[in-house]
Amino acid sequence: MLYLINLSIVILMPLFTKKSIGLVALIAVVSFATFAEKKKTPMPRPTNLTVLPQDISHDSLIYLMKEYSVSLGVKCGFCHVRSQVDSTRLDFASDANKHKNMARHMMKMTAEINSQYFQEENHGAQGALMVSCFTCHNGNKEPKEFVMPAEDDKK
Ligand code: HEC
Ligand code: HEC
Repeated sequence: MLYLINLSIVILMPLFTKKSIGLVALIAVVSFATFAEKKKTPMPRPTNLTVLPQDISHDSLIYLMKEYSVSLGVKCGFCHVRSQVDSTRLDFASDANKHKNMARHMMKMTAEINSQYFQEENHGAQGALMVSCFTCHNGNKEPKEFVMPAEDDKK
C-alpha cells in the first residue's frame, strides 16, 4: 500500500510546483484509493485545468470533485454552469460560475497550508493529519461562524 502511494508521488512529482506539494500527497492517496476501481468508458480529457495536474486520471478527478461537493454540501452545479448547447448537462470546462474560481483559490490555499504547516508523510493518514475542504466547511457552503454557547456564561 505504502509502496503504491510512494510510486504515485514519484510519478506525479515533476508536474508540480513546490507550493502544491500538499496536493501531490492528496492526489497520490486518491490515485491509490481509486487504483482498484474498474475502468469506465473513456470521458473527454479535461481542457481547462489550471490547478490540478493536466494528466490527472479521470477517476482521481471525479473523486476530488465528489470530495469538494460533499465537503460543501452541494451538487456539481454549485461550481459548474449549465451547458449552452444542452441545458440538461453541465459545462465542466467553463469558468463562468464564480464559485469555480473561488474553489481554485481554496485548493491552492489548502495545498499551501498542508505543505507549510503539516508533515507531508502524514497527509492522508487515518485521522486526517492534514487540512482538507471538509476541515473548515464541514458540509457547509461557507464555514459556520463561531457562536459562543449561552451556557458558558453561567459557569
Ligand atoms: C466547490 C466547487 C466544485 C464542485 C462542487 C465541483 N467542481 Fe468540478 N471543478 C472545480 C474546479 C475549481 C475545477 C478546475 C480545477 C483546475 O483548474 O485545476 C473543476 C473541474 C472539473 C472538471 C474538468 C473540466 C475541464 O475540462 O477542465 C470536471 C469534469 C469536473 N470538474 C466535474 C465535476 C463533477 C462531476 C462534479 C460533481 C460531482 C464537480 N465537478 C463538482 C470545482 C468544483
Ligand atoms: C482554512 C479553512 C478553509 C479551507 C481548508 C477551505 N475553505 Fe473554502 N472557504 C473558507 C471560508 C472562511 C470561506 C468564506 C470566504 C468568503 O465568503 O469570502 C470559504 C468559501 C468557499 C467557497 C465560496 C462559497 C460561497 O458561498 O460563495 C467555495 C466554493 C469554497 N470555499 C471551496 C473550498 C474548497 C473546494 C476547499 C478545498 C479544496 C476549501 N474551500 C477549503 C474556508 C476554507
